[in-house]
Amino acid sequence: MDTPDNLDELLICRLEPSHRLSEPCTVVIFGASGDLTARKLMPALYRLASLGQLPKPFRIIGFARREKTDESWRREMQTAIRDFARADKLTAEEWERFAENISYCQGDLEDPAAYQKLAAKIGAFNEEALRNHVLFYLAVAPSQFAGIAGHLSQVGLLGKIESTGVWRRLVIEKPFGHDLASARQLNAELGQFAHEKQIYRIDHYLGKETVQNILMFRFSNAIFEPIWNRQAVDNVQITVSEKLGVGGRGGYYEEAGALRDMVQNHLLQVLALVAMEPPVSLDPEAVRDEKTKLLRSIVPLAPVQVPRRAARGQYIAGQIDGQARPSYRQEDKVKPDSTVETYAALRLEIDNWRWSGVPFYLRTGKNLPLSASEVRVQFRPPPRVLFAAQCGPKLDANAITLRLQPDEGISLRFNGKIPGASTQLRPVRMHFSYESEFGAYTPEAYERLLLDAIAGDPALFIRSDVVETAWGIIDPIRAAWASEPLKPEEFYAAGTWGPAAADTLLTQSGHAWRNPDAR
Ligand code: BG6
Repeated sequence: MDTPDNLDELLICRLEPSHRLSEPCTVVIFGASGDLTARKLMPALYRLASLGQLPKPFRIIGFARREKTDESWRREMQTAIRDFARADKLTAEEWERFAENISYCQGDLEDPAAYQKLAAKIGAFNEEALRNHVLFYLAVAPSQFAGIAGHLSQVGLLGKIESTGVWRRLVIEKPFGHDLASARQLNAELGQFAHEKQIYRIDHYLGKETVQNILMFRFSNAIFEPIWNRQAVDNVQITVSEKLGVGGRGGYYEEAGALRDMVQNHLLQVLALVAMEPPVSLDPEAVRDEKTKLLRSIVPLAPVQVPRRAARGQYIAGQIDGQARPSYRQEDKVKPDSTVETYAALRLEIDNWRWSGVPFYLRTGKNLPLSASEVRVQFRPPPRVLFAAQCGPKLDANAITLRLQPDEGISLRFNGKIPGASTQLRPVRMHFSYESEFGAYTPEAYERLLLDAIAGDPALFIRSDVVETAWGIIDPIRAAWASEPLKPEEFYAAGTWGPAAADTLLTQSGHAWRNPDAR
């Protein structure tokens, strides 16, 4: 007879082979000297290679302005992989095997001759597949995306390719524009050189296991969907709190702020997965259609609504874990009178049949007491009879919390009797932890996303209509904030849970933030 353990094994439902077969290809990284390449891209590619998940053969070409030889770039990447890869110890043998596939192409992003050189390099590969299948990863400033695509197209490396057997893909990193108008312009510019299906817009949150699991949790179980609606849910809180300040990224952050940096992309993507309708199939376009539909049912705020429906904050000096943190205005490359928000909280309403009247609260901030991302689905309180009649507000309502990171897991909170002669109740928790169920290792988001881009699977990437709809939600809030100076209640000390304005946002509807706990 089966023991419960191997019964679980038998019930594993594989939707795709654990070892996906991808065609041989060349990955060209623009911005090869940058931080993203060293910290994320090369460690992820190395890890994939060491797991045998990259196609065979494959090549990586780093493209950047600085003078370097193949050998010196390889050495830099070896150090980066040592420092940042989550793989086991880097053995000399494994490294040599990986390094054989790496080369460097020096060139200025604006110099047509540099692209000729790149084309010649790719054209010189013996294997036809390495010449025919090319992924261009644009790890550079967004202002350079369209220029690079144009140059690639001029030397014949990029085009609106329809034929089978040849593919070209562009991978780009957020921000995709800085508002709706610029996002449209960027989409139109890239659209001159590549079809939408050749453009892979990365939101690394979608590569996180726990974010992917939102779909599985909702649509592979029958017990949650009947309560996932306005009848049972009181409010939903999505929190992405970060313990770090802006650090060395002050220059970038002055242009971005929390709304553009986190809410327009990561938080709205999580919201879409939590709230969307079941797609008609698991086809990537069907899933992306539902996300767009959901975001379209959020009516953008009118300027007069912004003060009651959105709150911003900026950190001032404080302490986290006993360490002093400077105020945002004292950070490097930040204006001393900056009004950029380092914290944003919104109350969004989804005007559809399922969610009408249920507030969705979103918040994110830097220099908060804890780094934690979670979705808390807060259910309606029990009817005011029996225990609820006697305990009043002390009887807590039920909640399901999807903890996205760290200490990944899902917990259900409900009330139970404290054992003993007297009648006392308190909340208890049923908890699923990724670590105890599946072991400590969860793959890096970039590993999954790179593998999907190489395999041509767009499901975890953002389509142009989703980007534009998300900007439509953000733009009026940004515009309203830009026209007002910061008020005293919009500052918060580093190490606290944000400005008083964010608490007011909820108390005016009879709600309160439920802070993530340090587990
Ligand atoms: C990035 C933002 O997209 O996401 C950063 O630009 C932020 O400001 C980061 O710190 C958070 O990502 P994660 O994976 O650490 O939650």
